[in-house]
Amino acid sequence: MVLNSDQLYLEIPEATLPTQFHSATEPFMTPQQKQAMDFMSGTNLDASGNTNFIVTTKESTWETATVHPDTAKGLANWCRNTFNLKFSGVFFVRTKPNSVGPWHCEGPLMKGRQCALNFLITGEPGKTKAQWGVHKTINTPPEEIEKYFSGSVPPDEVDIIGEYVSKQYVPFFYNTACLHRSFNTSSTAHRTLLSVCVADNISIHHIRTMYEKGTLFK
Ligand SMILES: [Fe+2]
Repeated sequence: MVLNSDQLYLEIPEATLPTQFHSATEPFMTPQQKQAMDFMSGTNLDASGNTNFIVTTKESTWETATVHPDTAKGLANWCRNTFNLKFSGVFFVRTKPNSVGPWHCEGPLMKGRQCALNFLITGEPGKTKAQWGVHKTINTPPEEIEKYFSGSVPPDEVDIIGEYVSKQYVPFFYNTACLHRSFNTSSTAHRTLLSVCVADNISIHHIRTMYEKGTLFK
């Protein structure tokens, strides 16, 4: 079973990320988080290089990080005031220039969500994009693939089923349960997203239905 693009993402051209969040490109870590990262950097994580972005290895192309609490609170409040949905955590995801992120998923079983509301804050518009895929041999609904993988999936095991070229500051809901990755190969800039979790396991299908009925916006 292959999902069509309606079930992978939903761009919201009517809204734009407020300007106070445009400069929120640097991650934030408490001293306790920093200490934990320094401790873990000897095992399987790397917090070196004077950055608060967390990478799985020094060679990793893809990084995540926490945002300053004031930014997280402000952005979650803006989302709640804009949409008839509940939102939880806010974090950064960043892909290095000329790079592709790993195929992975964050579904309802492991990560407690089916989709996120994302904003591109740095990157080359028209070049940087997201891709979704299905596993070539595991025959399962795409949104249930997380039962089989907790980490990344080798690229030669995945068929690409869709992609979305991001527009700077334009919000887009993003199916995170299906296999997905960032694709930044022809871009000379970091691809940085602010990613806000949609709470209560709401699906992109549900959000699209609200959008089409005119009930998504407050
Ligand atoms: Fe993801």
